[in-house]
Amino acid sequence: MMPYRIAQIRLVSSHPEVYEPCDDSFALVDALLADRTNLLEHRPRICLEIGCGSGYVIASLALLLGGEDSGSYFIATDINPHAVSVTSETLNAHGVHAELVNTDIASGLEGRLMGLVDVMVVNPPYVPTPDEEVGCDGITSAWAGGENGRSVIDKILPVADKLLSDKGWLYMVTLTANDPCDICLDMKKKGYAARIVLQRSTEEESLHIIKFWRDPNSQLEANDAKLLTKTDHGAGFGSFLSQLSQMSFWRSGNSTNN
Ligand SMILES: C[S@@+](CC[C@H](N)C(=O)[O-])C[C@H]1O[C@@H](n2cnc3c(N)ncnc32)[C@H](O)[C@@H]1O
Repeated sequence: MMPYRIAQIRLVSSHPEVYEPCDDSFALVDALLADRTNLLEHRPRICLEIGCGSGYVIASLALLLGGEDSGSYFIATDINPHAVSVTSETLNAHGVHAELVNTDIASGLEGRLMGLVDVMVVNPPYVPTPDEEVGCDGITSAWAGGENGRSVIDKILPVADKLLSDKGWLYMVTLTANDPCDICLDMKKKGYAARIVLQRSTEEESLHIIKFWRDPNSQLEANDAKLLTKTDHGAGFGSFLSQLSQMSFWRSGNSTNN
């Protein structure tokens, strides 16, 4: 196995208005490391991070894939212009490169990247807050997720669906309060299977790093589950989830490459 590196905290640049690498950032990079063998075999052509903050995650992804020598092209976006500058410094300090775009999610990139992204990574603003705080200037936009912490997540999912290639993978950080099960159901309806790559509880939160990939059976099963709920009015939501879990809603860790 090739030796690997991830970003070093001492080389990660900072700014008072930019999110510093924290438990969620470390959990996401640890999830990528845990899936590194699959990622290397996957040979992604285009990797995209939405909401790059300090650049810790995109720099780590570039390093663990072997930078541009791997043949991968890296792109990262952030709505906060300071984050884009800080990420540029972090990438330079690690000797890796990514195209950086100051934009809302992937606005302006859809035409160019549609169906081409093989790996997408997202540590979104997921903290439940009043909706007014979502999209505020500066550091608040790093965590403010609106009701159930889902405002930005729910905008990112359809964009991910547009940009991901047929073999595309999405790794996303979620919090229990975001209702990861509901997020997976939403993605299942779009035709994605899901697996929790890493679960970590800190004093403050319980984080799940979920990996999504396209799976035509998922959409069929979501439709079947919808039919079952329509014809089984008395059974309730608990039963609906148990029907889903009997299908391939959560794929087992070793059943496929995913
Ligand atoms: C929780 S921080 C994660 C930062 C970094 N990826 C990490 O893991 O350390 C979320 C990042 O998303 C950015 N962000 C928030 N809303 C966004 C949006 N609509 N489009 C792009 N980036 C956004 C924030 O500015 C912030 O840098």
